[in-house]
Amino acid sequence: MNKKILTALLFAASTVATQAQVYLDPQAPLENRVKDAISRMTTHEKIQVIHAQSKFTSAGVPRLGIRQLNMDDGPHGVREELEWNTWSPAKWTNDYIVAFPSLTCLAATWNRDLSTVYGNAVSEEFAFRGKDIMLGPGVNIQRTPMNGRAFEYMGEDPYLAGEIVVPYIKAAQANGVGCCLKHYVLNDQETDRFAVDVNVSDRALNEIYLYPFKKAVEDAHVYTIMGSYNTYKGVHCCHNDELINGVLKKQWGFDGALISDWGGTTNTWEAANGGLDIEMGSYTDGKLKESEYTYDDYYLAKPFEKLIEEGKIPMSVLDDKVARVLRTIFRTAMNPKKVIGSQCSEAHYDACRAIGEEGIVLLKNDKPKKEKSALLPIDPAKYQKILVVGDNATKSLTLGGGSSELKTLRDISPLEGFKTLYGDKVDYAQGYMSGRAIYDQVDPIDPAKQAALKAEALEKARQADLIIFVGGLNKNHRQDCENGDRESYDLSYGQNELIAELAAIQKNIIVVMFGGNPYSTPWLEQVPAFLHCWYLGSEAGKALVNVVSGKVCPSGKLPVTFAKKYEDYPYMKYGKEAYPGVDKKVYYKEDIYVGYRGFEADKVQPQFPFGFGLSYTTFKYSKPVVSGNTVAVEVTNTGSVEGKEIVQLYVGMEKCSEDRPKKELKDFKKVSLKPGETKTVGFTINRDNLKFFSTKDGAWKFEPGTYRLYLASSSADESHQATIDL
Ligand code: BGC
Repeated sequence: MNKKILTALLFAASTVATQAQVYLDPQAPLENRVKDAISRMTTHEKIQVIHAQSKFTSAGVPRLGIRQLNMDDGPHGVREELEWNTWSPAKWTNDYIVAFPSLTCLAATWNRDLSTVYGNAVSEEFAFRGKDIMLGPGVNIQRTPMNGRAFEYMGEDPYLAGEIVVPYIKAAQANGVGCCLKHYVLNDQETDRFAVDVNVSDRALNEIYLYPFKKAVEDAHVYTIMGSYNTYKGVHCCHNDELINGVLKKQWGFDGALISDWGGTTNTWEAANGGLDIEMGSYTDGKLKESEYTYDDYYLAKPFEKLIEEGKIPMSVLDDKVARVLRTIFRTAMNPKKVIGSQCSEAHYDACRAIGEEGIVLLKNDKPKKEKSALLPIDPAKYQKILVVGDNATKSLTLGGGSSELKTLRDISPLEGFKTLYGDKVDYAQGYMSGRAIYDQVDPIDPAKQAALKAEALEKARQADLIIFVGGLNKNHRQDCENGDRESYDLSYGQNELIAELAAIQKNIIVVMFGGNPYSTPWLEQVPAFLHCWYLGSEAGKALVNVVSGKVCPSGKLPVTFAKKYEDYPYMKYGKEAYPGVDKKVYYKEDIYVGYRGFEADKVQPQFPFGFGLSYTTFKYSKPVVSGNTVAVEVTNTGSVEGKEIVQLYVGMEKCSEDRPKKELKDFKKVSLKPGETKTVGFTINRDNLKFFSTKDGAWKFEPGTYRLYLASSSADESHQATIDL
């Protein structure tokens, strides 16, 4: 062969080889890979990657060796494997996993390190199951205790939610598993979730509802975000131009993919132009109906392809979506550093238990009449017959709840936990029944059976010298469950009456509640000890007994306010328009005064304030000292056991040109102290954190002036204050 031709051929071959390598080369800059891949894709291939190809996957480009995205719920563990295109279980035998505690429990730990532990462990399970994207975590704000999905979120305060969600995402994504942050945005109730239009001021939207999402984008660089079902300004949030293109992508610089909630897409034109990048669904019309060609009939499938081919929507709109999907694929499915992961490892159970133990909140621990010490931790030498009462002592709380339901390998129930520790001393009475966990249905309960269960519990209570009541909410429809809100602030199944009657029989009674939401506690005066446990996952029984036995000193604090009565929640004074809405329109009339911000403005005493939680030891705070832009307080363990205290920094502005809450959480630190030990807990005041979203300017604003600092053990603790001029 002629030398010239050979050189030319070699050059051509090398160019092809170089070209071929760019998008597949993990060392090449991401944007080059994305561009290169797009340049090789046909319009049809581009369309294929921006919508579902099964219930939980979206396509890759097999011709080019670009992998599909395997997604799954989320957020407390990997969901059971379902059939390719139905909602029925695939009946695998190797998809049993660890259920981690609910995200409200994680928030209640106020422990950023445990959030890292959580994100790492749960993503290892996702990786091992071959998943690229975990559908979670969620940071919708707990505006109402009625919200059926609050257990999947991180409480009522945007700062706390932001601080806790960031380490979770960072740890998961470091393992090559992308998070899909839920549900962007204003999906704060399940009543009318597919249609409710949320009316909220720009200020509340930015300060309260968007804030944790912003943190996840800016500080954790979250790979994907799920659009919510509800509408904002009449447009569905899965393709809401203002919120997605305007805020998320332009203002915050989000470069990943906006994934629709399943069936949250309702219109091709809006989906195409409103920022949606991957359309996922339950059925072709999203919710109920299936067409012959199913996925080809999705809004972002053939109907969109047609608009592109007709030139009605420019290719650049499609290419932007494809770029976002490709980035996600390269970051996860084709990430050579993606871990192999593991499933049901002992390390995961340990993580589960550690998070549970630190999330449990001790709300009351008095001395029963004539006793010298508090009821908790339990002194087993004192009791011969310990009666455990309540449905939640044995009910699986990992089943039910909607999409977060989990199929676990092993769960330790509270009753098993107590039996392991206290052996034959333990007896059990169900006390009440709650029926099965059925999605979207209410299981009828036979009143005669209910009465018999109660009678049995009261009878056994007479023989016992200690009662541990284990109740609360559960994952049934209209308890803590997706697609329906609670119907009452009171606990169901006659629990309040039962506790009161048990307490009348036996003064040594400990109430242990599960649930993702607050509830009324009319029996509070009658019971000396009360713990709230959220949902603790697979290790529930162990985490619980470790706390009640004193092996672990409780250190959780509430991420949400417990009101004395339902009417006290800040939005309640505005009637149904404020919740659950009228004619599918809801108005957030309490504005920024959500949770403790509202209780303080209304001067209403909560039952248990935000940030509150007791310990088996006590802590003393010194007078705070301000120096430059820092403030410090000395905290001493004044009790007799080692314990952890969460020191909270709330900040309020003395005089401000616009209305502001009296104080807001701006930082916190969790410190461990031995008996008698003192530690200095210092905070640097971050001006950025003190900004508010000015209604006048329509922008975040820092205002110079005098700020009041509260170094506090809860939002209601105002005994250690200082001021700082900034
Ligand atoms: C839920 C999502 C979930 C999806 C897939 C939807 O109904 O709102 O949170 O990820 O289903 O199961």
